[in-house]
Amino acid sequence: MKLFATFAALALGLEIEQGGKWGQTECINANKFIIERLGNSSDVEVLTQFNAEKPTEGYKLEGNVVEILADKNNRKLMGRLVCSQDGTKLSSEDITGSIQFKNLPNALTNLDGDVNKRIECEAIGYPLPSLKWRFQAIDEEAVEGLCDGGKCTVCTSNCHPEEDVCKQEDSNAKEACVSQFYQANSTDIFSMGINDLAVRFSNKTCPMSGELSEAEALDCKTVLSTAEVENLPINFAKKSQLLFSDVSYAQGGKYICVATQEDVVRTKAFVWRVKDPMAALWPFLGLVVEVMVVVAAILYYEKKSAKGNEEEETNDEEAAKLTK
Ligand SMILES: *[C@@H]1O[C@H](CO)[C@@H](O)[C@H](O)[C@H]1NC(C)=O
Ligand SMILES: *[C@@H]1O[C@H](CO)[C@@H](O)[C@H](O)[C@H]1NC(C)=O
Repeated sequence: MKLFATFAALALGLEIEQGGKWGQTECINANKFIIERLGNSSDVEVLTQFNAEKPTEGYKLEGNVVEILADKNNRKLMGRLVCSQDGTKLSSEDITGSIQFKNLPNALTNLDGDVNKRIECEAIGYPLPSLKWRFQAIDEEAVEGLCDGGKCTVCTSNCHPEEDVCKQEDSNAKEACVSQFYQANSTDIFSMGINDLAVRFSNKTCPMSGELSEAEALDCKTVLSTAEVENLPINFAKKSQLLFSDVSYAQGGKYICVATQEDVVRTKAFVWRVKDPMAALWPFLGLVVEVMVVVAAILYYEKKSAKGNEEEETNDEEAAKLTK
């Protein structure tokens, strides 16, 4: 039983959201601890021994045990924790973090004829997530309704529809359900033949327009098929941009950014609405017409009543003449 508990603790690894301790057995002789941020061996934080006067941020290293403090928000210490002795690596452990999307709006409205409109999706986590795009025409509310309470009406794996509720931690059940629904019920973006749309992946940022200089092309790759997406180097795969060089009605619909981290899949969908530029003018034109009608009516009646007064006056004058 005790053995099992130890094993279970080991299997959990170090999740940044929960924190944990590591190094007791693996790093007995270690004299150096580092974290390779997001697994990048040239982006390194060297850990320092705990000192009550100058506490270290996010972790506590005491002897050969590192305690990673739970961090649900900025999760800066995600990556690979490595201990070494005189330059020789002894052991390492991943500090994992689940997929989180950088803010992406739920809907965007553009005008037919707009140029170079972009939307960017970035998934943050460790192991590094990789992205894919899908497309579909079903509205958000339908999916939300199906997945309320984490019900698994459309589950394909990891959950048991007969039990009605996803067999996962409750906080994840709905997200998992929505992700599964979108995966089952959407189309690969490249199979849609959407006009004037470039799908780009980057390790930094892509430029604002469609033209890429040679230098920009090193950091921003345009892909034309799902196979190309799957072959991207991992540091490109977690950040993607859709560039609509010319906005048109046919592009309207729901675009789903699908992030995969080992066997966990999460989705973030947004609606791309395309409006007629004149459509925004119609209510205004309606108002202008209404005002014109009212003004015309007022002028008409003013004129009519002025004429009426004149007639009355002339009648009075004539009457006066007659009585003389
Ligand atoms: C790794 O980190 C270094 C230093 O921060 C950075 O210059 C480099 O681009 C990173 N490499 C990858 C693959 O992200
Ligand atoms: C796709 O969506 C429709 C409409 O909501 C739904 O009836 C159908 O079951 C979905 N298909 C899959 C495979 O989830």
